Parts: sequence; structure tokens; C-alpha cells
Amino acid sequence: MALINIMSFRILGTGMYVPERIVTNDDLSKLVDTNDEWIMQRVGIHERHVTTHETCTDLAYEAAKAALDNAGVKPEELDLILAATVSGDYACPSLACMIQKRLGATCMAYDCVAACSAFLFLLETAAGYFARGKVKKVLVVGSERLSRVLDWTDRSTCVIFGDGAGAAVLGEGDGYLDAVFNVYGNSEVLNIPSYQGASPFSTLGETHPYVHMLGQDTFKYAVTAICGDIKKLLERNSLSADDIKFVVPHQANKRIIDSAARRVGIPLDKFVINIEKYGNTSSASVPIALDELHRSGKISDDDLLILTAFGGGLADAACLIRW
Ligand code: UT7
Repeated sequence: MALINIMSFRILGTGMYVPERIVTNDDLSKLVDTNDEWIMQRVGIHERHVTTHETCTDLAYEAAKAALDNAGVKPEELDLILAATVSGDYACPSLACMIQKRLGATCMAYDCVAACSAFLFLLETAAGYFARGKVKKVLVVGSERLSRVLDWTDRSTCVIFGDGAGAAVLGEGDGYLDAVFNVYGNSEVLNIPSYQGASPFSTLGETHPYVHMLGQDTFKYAVTAICGDIKKLLERNSLSADDIKFVVPHQANKRIIDSAARRVGIPLDKFVINIEKYGNTSSASVPIALDELHRSGKISDDDLLILTAFGGGLADAACLIRW
């Protein structure tokens, strides 16, 4: 194995949090014309967690706390907090600033916007700080209250998403081996418009901040992106499917994962799949799946993992991690 060996970071701990309220497919069938059979067959979701009183910051804080506890790191030891959300409580301050405040940390903190792929963009950003020797401990968090950006009368989107947060604490090491990123600026396939406000001078008209998605276009893009990114990582690191212990994919649709696994030639049982319980939690999806995998005790030191994600931007990414 000829791995590209760049001094970067290793993952010291992970955490997640989902709101208390569980909404099943049967619950949704009372809101819109849908049913458990359609949602399970087409997407693979049985239920999702939805906020009632919790804010996006609340979810992020709980996941961050869990990751810090898991890593044995105190908030005051953090040198940097990086966060991502498309459904935050404020346009400003950033989610990262709110996490910093709630944790009582004093380090630098800011957000990156890359929708469902954001956790991987955060890892790459963190790697740059580690490579420059600027940080020793970094917290990365993806948190979403997507229930507030859904049109709950639109059955083609409201059944797909869920709320939740995932986090990881990074420390010095050489576990982040390689990563690929692709961005294709495009608002037609997938977007969440900002509220346009009420400027007396604007002719743009009112917009609602709801998720809009061309489902089938997104589906095709997703499968191509996952396969292309994983193949690139394997090829340029001279690895085969046998060398990879687990793939942690963005949880958007069980059929997307099935199809990508088949095409890329990695057995499906190496893919972490938890979409049935949480739906698509965008930037939180990969770190939630990673936390569940980590806490299951199935990963050992030196295991190779691939994380892979795609979504609004359009943006997709994959990275190779040695545990
Ligand atoms: O993280 C962001 C990335 N997002 C994704 O990766 C999403 C990718 N896309 C998908 O997962 C799938 O395209 C969807 C799950 C969104 C939709 O599944 P599909 O198999 O592509 O269904 P479709 O849009 O082609 O719709 C098929 C039928 C339509 O009815 P007709 O026109 O055939 O009569 C829809 O109206 O299914 C209908 N339909 C529903 N029926 C019951 C759409 N939503 C529902 C629903 N319940 N919730």
C-alpha cells in the first residue's frame, strides 16, 4: 500500500445528538399523501427525529459535548471550532460562534457552507491548520434543524429529511490520508432559498426558505459522485476494496448507497447505513454515522475508512482516514 502520508490529524473522539421527538412514516401519512411502504422502498427511511423545542445550536452543543467527553478533551483545550449547517438559528452569528459560547471555549470559530458534504470540507479545512502547526485540538460539528426549512405540504421532500447533529474532536496525528473534492456551481438541482425580506426597493418578490430538489437528477449525480470519488481515492493510494474496513456515506437514500456499492465493487456490508432511523440530516449525516460506527466498537487502530458525501452546491467529497 502506497499511502500519501501528510502530517495532519487523527480523530480523538466522536459524538452525536438527535432531538427527542420521533416522527414515523405513519405519522407523516396523516400530514401528506404518503405511506410507509413508498418511503421504505424508495428511500429506506422508517422514522426521523424532529425538533419541537430544541434549536440547531442545542443539537450542535449536545453533539459537541458528547465528542469532547469521548475524546477526553476540555473546551478550554480547543484551538479551533469549525461548524456547518444549512438550517442554523442565525445567519449571523455563525453556528460555530454559538457552540463556542455554549461550551465556554475561547478559541477561533467559524462556519463553512457546503450542505450535505460540509463535514468533509470541515475536515479538509482543519487539516490545513494542523499542517501549518497552528492547532493541537479542533472540534468539527455538523448540525441541522431541517424541519424548519421543509414545506410540510410537499410529500416529495418532507418525508426525506430529519434533524440532528454530529461532531468529532481532532488531535495531532497522521490519520487523515487523502481527500477529493468536486464543486459544480448549480442552484437548479438542489437549493434552499434565503428569505428575500421586505426591501421597498426590491423587485425580486417573496421567497420561502424551503428545500427544492429535482430528486432524480440528484439521485444520478449522487451515484456518479460517490463512485468517482471512491475510485479516485483507491486508485491514487494503490488500495483495493479489501483494504477498506468501512465506508461511511452520506445518508440520503438507501438505494443510492446500494447502487454505489454495487458499481464501486465494495461489499454493501462495509457501508454504514442508519438512514432508516434518522432520514437525511445533511451536514450531520456523516458524523452521526461515524459516531455510531465508532461506538459500536467495530473499528480498530489502523483500520482504513472512507467517508463520502454529496449534495447542494453541487458539491461532493470523499476522504481516506486511518483510525
Ligand atoms: O442530501 C441531498 C441529496 N438528496 C438526494 O440525494 C435525494 C436523491 N433523490 C431521491 O432520493 C429520490 O429521487 C426521491 C426519494 C426524492 C424520489 O424518489 P423517486 O423514485 O425518484 O420518485 P419520483 O420523484 O420519480 O416520483 C415517483 C412517484 C411520483 O408519482 P407519479 O408521478 O409516478 O404518479 C411522485 O408523485 O412517487 C410519487 N411520490 C410519492 N408517493 C408517495 C413522491 N413522493 C412521494 C411520497 N409518497 N412521499
